[in-house]
Amino acid sequence: MRKQIAAANWKMNLTYQQGAELLKTILSADISLNENQIALFAVPFPYLELANDTVHQKKNYYAAAQNCSDKKSGAYTGEISAEMLKSLDVPYCLVGHSERREYFGETNEILSGKVAICLTYGLTPVFCCGEALKIRDQNAQNSFVEQQLRESLFHLSAEQILNVVIAYEPIWAIGTGKTASTAQAQEMHAFIRSVLQKQFGKEVAGQISILYGGSVKANNAKELFACPDVDGGLVGGASLVASDFMEIIRALK
Ligand code: 13P
Repeated sequence: MRKQIAAANWKMNLTYQQGAELLKTILSADISLNENQIALFAVPFPYLELANDTVHQKKNYYAAAQNCSDKKSGAYTGEISAEMLKSLDVPYCLVGHSERREYFGETNEILSGKVAICLTYGLTPVFCCGEALKIRDQNAQNSFVEQQLRESLFHLSAEQILNVVIAYEPIWAIGTGKTASTAQAQEMHAFIRSVLQKQFGKEVAGQISILYGGSVKANNAKELFACPDVDGGLVGGASLVASDFMEIIRALK
């Protein structure tokens, strides 16, 4: 059975002290995850060691980075490499969040390099995709997302893609309070799985976790996660409030 994942993306929020407190509160709650459930915390780089140390107490809770470089190492001031993350025992890394694409010029081609280097160093990339409102208004979301997948993931082998998590995050739903309907989410997730199936086969596609992101809240997570092709969520705003994110973890299938 594929993994069901509740992933927090703190983005550029919280001080170290606030982050430590939030993690402590969430991890002290009595929420035990079963074999196929995972809780992830994508925290700012300087908090990764703290997050890793804190989550180690509990089964299936993991830290994640929010980004890494597509370069192996060298004169790239301010960048963080996949190898550095691995040396801190960080197991997951977000790749290609729409905010990285929009504000930092990350293209599908650059992201294909980021996915590859994560896999080289044994990190699981959480590859983000999703369309802007303009694309959805033209009803072109399927071909847009397919191109993102094709250009960033289709160089992988079937064995490699099994170590990738996908997050579908429609940009119009991020931070807007405007969540995709369960029908819209399920339709896109089923489409993404069909694209993966064509490239990697049915058995492989059936094992890949596809998370939904975009205004996931404590009061809509259960309904969204109940969709057959939605395997959890990537959560921004609501992951900064302990009680809300705890509720979202509890909503996992
Ligand atoms: P919100 O949950 O704040 O809409 O953010 C979603 C997101 O971008 C998670 O990566």
